[in-house]
Amino acid sequence: MDAEILRKFEGSLARCLADPDFLDIFYGNFLSSSPKVREKFAGTDFERQNRALQASFDTMLKAARDEENGPETYLGPLAERHGARQLRVGAELYDFWLDSLLKTVKVCDAGWSEEVEQAWEAVMGVGIRYLCSRYNS
Ligand code: HEM
Repeated sequence: MDAEILRKFEGSLARCLADPDFLDIFYGNFLSSSPKVREKFAGTDFERQNRALQASFDTMLKAARDEENGPETYLGPLAERHGARQLRVGAELYDFWLDSLLKTVKVCDAGWSEEVEQAWEAVMGVGIRYLCSRYNS
């Protein structure tokens, strides 16, 4: 992926994570995006979940740096966890996830711009496409 896109994403991610409310706002948006999402998180410990999500932004970035081999190298366990044999997260739920994330970035990143939003879409898109493609395997 283009170095400029990765640079924009990294800058925005650092600004977002500097906001102590970023992950809570994201999960607030995500849970209110659909009853289907709320259902999946019915028994979740969100302190643990916030930490897991924060770490997975780095993993998604690594995957996007090497679009060809990165997803397979870094995202295998996450794909298995979200696939048909475990959490059963279908493709339609990733639309809610990405929309909620973009909405949150817009609120939390003082350096937000259209290009910043496109960078998040591009970087997260690599991982999302991979997770969806691995749903049944
Ligand atoms: C690319 C987007 C996503 C990323 C990066 C991501 C990341 C993660 C991570 C890191 C975990 C913790 C895994 C573990 O404990 O082993 C997790 C768990 C989970 N994710 Fe996702 N996720 C994504 C999309 C989604 C979507 C769209 C849903 C749909 C509702 C979802 C629902 C869940 C649920 C229910 C759990 C388990 C929570 C629990 O332990 O109670 N995720 N996710």
